[in-house]
Amino acid sequence: MKVPFLDLKLQYTAIKNEISTAIQQVLESTAFAGGPFVKEFEDSFAAFCQTQHAIGVGNGTDALWAALIALGVGPGDEVITVPNTFIATAEAISFCGARPVFVDIEDQTCNMNPDAVTKAITPRTKAIIPVHLYGHMADMDAIMAIAKKHSLFVIEDACQAHGAEYKGKKAGSIGDAGCFSFYPGKNLGAYGEAGAVVTNNALLAEKMRTFRDHGQKKKYYHEMIGWNGRMDGIQGAILSVKLQHLQAWTDARRGHAALYNKLLGGAAGVQLPFEADYAKHVYHIYPIRIQNRDALIDALAAKGISSGIHYPVPLHLTEAYAHLGYKKGSFPVSEKCAGELVSLPMFPELNQEQIEFVVTAIKEFDKK
Ligand SMILES: Cc1ncc(COP(=O)(O)O)c(C=O)c1O
Repeated sequence: MKVPFLDLKLQYTAIKNEISTAIQQVLESTAFAGGPFVKEFEDSFAAFCQTQHAIGVGNGTDALWAALIALGVGPGDEVITVPNTFIATAEAISFCGARPVFVDIEDQTCNMNPDAVTKAITPRTKAIIPVHLYGHMADMDAIMAIAKKHSLFVIEDACQAHGAEYKGKKAGSIGDAGCFSFYPGKNLGAYGEAGAVVTNNALLAEKMRTFRDHGQKKKYYHEMIGWNGRMDGIQGAILSVKLQHLQAWTDARRGHAALYNKLLGGAAGVQLPFEADYAKHVYHIYPIRIQNRDALIDALAAKGISSGIHYPVPLHLTEAYAHLGYKKGSFPVSEKCAGELVSLPMFPELNQEQIEFVVTAIKEFDKK
């Protein structure tokens, strides 16, 4: 049996007619860049996130960058984030001219450790970017309390956490801004590149809208140096269709995670993903932790099972961020997780037989 890590074709096939109609409408109206289809998606996505505003942009990296720029983060500033994230989180900080300051993560959730944040604050700190990694939210009460005490902005990197919750509050709705990626493999994925920022701050929303459109509110009247960060109309229309299915897809992911948890429970040496009492996990990724990770990945591949590692190199040990001067050992929990994580197949259309096959393969490996 083949078990892919992700199968986008199955999902597309199930909603093909709705998607074709939506794309056709954009083509007929020629609203290709920004426009009414993006606006319609922005309104429904803001409602979904329990926020007042959503701004559609080109991708999740643009979303982070737009939020940082609009909050006035720039040269000389420091922004605290985690090293176990996709590099885009740090790239957005760097491309504002600011410096990423990494802090270690909690062992159970693999998310930002609030105690470490407090220790990393300096007079130059301007903002904190917690990353809701894998679809599990960071401990936002603790992070918001620190931010309030030290007058810092909080930007939620919710690029993997569409619809995730913290004590009933939606990802993206707690900090000053929440940033989403709609990269095709995400829980809510476009058929190309797209992203969005959500916020409850009207002024911030206006700044981000202006920034993403070359710094103009009125065509050719540029009030700031902006960027071309617009979402395109076809992606807006596709995302509006897919948003209506997101709850069902999230329920399916949670069901698969529950089955994995049940069947894998008790497998020696396998640490399952954790869901804190405060969290509703949306399982963008279902990562287990195991000592001899590389051998497990090979054993799964030999049986036709694809898996992944998110992420094999913590950012402080990448060549790109070597200039920050961190060393091996700087963030022991992040480094330990990076060496143990294996992401198992996870997508809404995965079936029980496939999950059982993956679990059997892991248990056989475990016995050797
Ligand atoms: C945690 C995180 N942040 C930021 C991004 C960047 O999003 P995009 O690829 O849409 O630019 C991603 C996407 O992979 C992500 O997973």
